[in-house]
Amino acid sequence: MRITVIGCGYLGAVHAACMAKLGHEVVGIDVDDQKIRELSSARAPFYEPGLEELLREVQETGRLTFTTDMSAAAGSDVHFICVGTPQKKGENGADMTYVDAAASALLPHISPGDVVVGKSTVPVGTAARLAQLVQDQEPTSHLVWNPEFLREGHAVADTLQPDRFVYGVSDGSEDHPAVAVLDDVYAVPLGAGTPRLVTDHPTAELVKAAANSFLATKISFINAMAEVCEASGADVTRLADAIGMDDRIGRKFLHAGIGFGGGCLPKDIRAFMARAGELGADQALTFLREVDAINMRRRTRVVELTRELCDGTLLGKRITVLGAAFKPESDDVRDSPALSIAAQLQLQGAVVSVTDPKALENAAKRFPELQFEDDMYEAITKADALLLLTEWEQYRNLDPYALLSRVASPRILDGRNVLDPEKWRAAGWTYRGLGRA
Ligand code: UGA
Repeated sequence: MRITVIGCGYLGAVHAACMAKLGHEVVGIDVDDQKIRELSSARAPFYEPGLEELLREVQETGRLTFTTDMSAAAGSDVHFICVGTPQKKGENGADMTYVDAAASALLPHISPGDVVVGKSTVPVGTAARLAQLVQDQEPTSHLVWNPEFLREGHAVADTLQPDRFVYGVSDGSEDHPAVAVLDDVYAVPLGAGTPRLVTDHPTAELVKAAANSFLATKISFINAMAEVCEASGADVTRLADAIGMDDRIGRKFLHAGIGFGGGCLPKDIRAFMARAGELGADQALTFLREVDAINMRRRTRVVELTRELCDGTLLGKRITVLGAAFKPESDDVRDSPALSIAAQLQLQGAVVSVTDPKALENAAKRFPELQFEDDMYEAITKADALLLLTEWEQYRNLDPYALLSRVASPRILDGRNVLDPEKWRAAGWTYRGLGRA
């Protein structure tokens, strides 16, 4: 099939490459000239494991091209909208500018029978609104809402072998003509057994909002338990192990630490609350306000713990922050708790040095006032305290003995609870975890 992918960011670039890998002829379209130039030379404009190899592989087949020219969409059977929906400035709601701009730029180029597929995370009601625009343009064309559930750092595998597909169509029926078209697009993963659900438009939109809200709630739940553990002398990691053994609860997403960040969970729960308010259902989601508050409290808690670790004052203390990305295997620093903590420490008088294997360039753009150091060993030299805030493999595997001679004081705060406290203490370090005595 011939496929258009509009928006070549974390979602669209991966989607375009994966659709070409599935055998389709794909054109990726983005307004950002620089991004298109990089993708056209098979370079990923951001770090995502396996993406660059995949871009090279599929571009050799000639099935994947990139352009800034929307008229290239003409002639495709299926058009995916993969642009961002960031949080509006100063408000909780989602900024729909990019989705609306993408739709209005695309519509003049669609042909009878084409299928427009929304993948961006949007407020419920968007699909019905866009479906009307599609119908007004081409009465035989359809709009499907097909939310994306990929995780950064695993985006290629999550796109090629997702847990499930959700197709939201206007009548919610399996017999809707767009269902067969999307089944052709995803023939390979469907053939391998990936389940798919057909729903109406609002249900498909809500599946995504509900899934991210549930994940955020799970993380904040365990972080709330961490607060109680800290107050009572218990250990949240053992508590999570024990409750996670109950199948109904499960151990995944019960890692207590500095909380969730990134371009999705924080803004998605806020946009969901804002939308529920508009629909008169705000009471249903007031718990998400608490989820958000627990999450943000973790950041303040880490600043306080660091102060304690540094004998009660941050003034002039040299603090090394290990990790700037919002999670490992990503260079994404959007709403990164690690960077937010680094900035707060700096504001309170500490001399902060941040290191990260992939995210320093993005971090420096967002927080130019912080000091960044590529070389981890340089970064920790003469540090009064180390803060492990993004659990990259190389930080998990640090040898406490090897670092001793580098630092001014052997003190470490493990913001992700990934180090072995006994090992670090045995090596002479003062170790603090989160939610652990
Ligand atoms: C999240 C969802 O997991 C995806 O399913 C969804 O498609 C995506 O948002 C999206 O809406 O596009 P992602 O933002 O890549 O994916 O990252 P997650 O793996 O969900 O992690 C989010 C944050 O939670 C990270 O800061 C991570 O460090 C933190 N986290 C995660 C915890 O603090 N504890 C945990 O147990 C798990």
